[in-house]
Amino acid sequence: MQGEKPGKKTVPFSRSQVEELEKTFPTPFHVYDEEAIRAGSRRLYKAFSWVTDSDGKKGGFKNYFAVKALPNPYILRLLHEEGQGTDCSSLPELLLSEAAGITGEEIMFSSNDTPAEEFALAKKLGAIINLDDITFIDFLKKAAGIPRLLCFRYNPGEEYSHGNPIIGNPDEAKYGLTHEQIIRAYPKAQKMGVKRFGLHAMIVSNQCREDILADAARLLFNLAVEIHTKTGIRLEFINLGGGIGIPYAPADRQVNVEEYARRVHDLYQEIIVENGLSPIRIIMESGRAVTGPYGYLVSRVRHVTQKHRAYVGLDACMANLMRPALYGAHHQITVLGKENRPLDHVYDVTGSLCENNDKFAIQRPLPEVRPGDIMVIHDTGAHGHAMGFNYNGKLRSAEFLMQAGGNFQLIRRAETINDYFATLNFKGSDFSGFARKKAPSLTPVKTKKQ
Ligand SMILES: Cc1ncc(COP(=O)(O)O)c(C=O)c1O
Repeated sequence: MQGEKPGKKTVPFSRSQVEELEKTFPTPFHVYDEEAIRAGSRRLYKAFSWVTDSDGKKGGFKNYFAVKALPNPYILRLLHEEGQGTDCSSLPELLLSEAAGITGEEIMFSSNDTPAEEFALAKKLGAIINLDDITFIDFLKKAAGIPRLLCFRYNPGEEYSHGNPIIGNPDEAKYGLTHEQIIRAYPKAQKMGVKRFGLHAMIVSNQCREDILADAARLLFNLAVEIHTKTGIRLEFINLGGGIGIPYAPADRQVNVEEYARRVHDLYQEIIVENGLSPIRIIMESGRAVTGPYGYLVSRVRHVTQKHRAYVGLDACMANLMRPALYGAHHQITVLGKENRPLDHVYDVTGSLCENNDKFAIQRPLPEVRPGDIMVIHDTGAHGHAMGFNYNGKLRSAEFLMQAGGNFQLIRRAETINDYFATLNFKGSDFSGFARKKAPSLTPVKTKKQ
């Protein structure tokens, strides 16, 4: 079965809308398309609508959005309106989730190398705790007490080898319990008072093949049967983790979620139902596929230079999007207003960091670019702004939610120099002269698409 062929990437806003925004908010900034995020979420839920809940009724599927992908409470709240919970892996992510009104079993706490206070907060919020190691059962007991519902993260090691540079191969990955450990962990937890159980694995990343994604489900379904056979414990849910890929590059496949869900359904019938273990709820922790394709990094061209190569220097840099520098990831680029011009020039598109890998694209065919052009970098809605950092004194950008009717809601202001210096207490220094004079308004900016 083939994935879908991704269409040509387009930008859902115009140059004049960006110019309108720029009157108040200078580039660079990220824009997230609310309607597209909602539509994508509905498609995922529809594809998995066959999943039953614990009463055997349909509607048992839930995505716990991986907060690390786009840690903004406005986004979490809108995804919650679509039925999604949150997958958190740190204390701030738990707090963001709570701020967005998401608590209790709508939070999956999938952390690793976890400090005691994070387990304590997760337990207090009633989150589902997903343990990354067998020794964490005792650690959790001491830190927060044993909950009635507990999940374990499985690492299949060599049994499954579809790793990539983002997640690595399971046998080299720091996450999860080995097979031998996981079979021991369930009865141990049961003896300590756990009544309800889940199973989790996150063993693929940015995977665009439905058969490989479904293979991870097969592995977990077979393990659920084995756990039941060996321990008598029935699982309440299986968490397929995140890892659904998106077509960043023109040659990449677009996952057909209906096909993926159909394959998982077939495996569920063949393994879970046939072994009398139904109903087991199917859940996941998708981040990238939920918001990734619907985010855009908008940036102005500062300089076009000719050295040994031709360079386009943007006002955005690695601080705003690290994926190309970190993974050599491909992100498509549109020059607003030049969409139909021939791609007859070749450039390296860079930021201003003193790092030669601060490049958004290397030897990329583009139309002729001039200083002042507006470039839009595609697919920045997940693991984009979130990975930002302040090396070289670079500041993280603003985030906008583009709503129906051309409203742009500022959902995070840009960092200021004051933010950058906020952790310094250097006697005699006063950086206030560089501060932004006025906090930006949170009133949506109305624009017209032309
Ligand atoms: C535990 C866990 N769950 C879910 C995700 C989300 O993965 P993705 O955004 O690729 O779907 C990640 C990503 O790092 C993760 O570590």
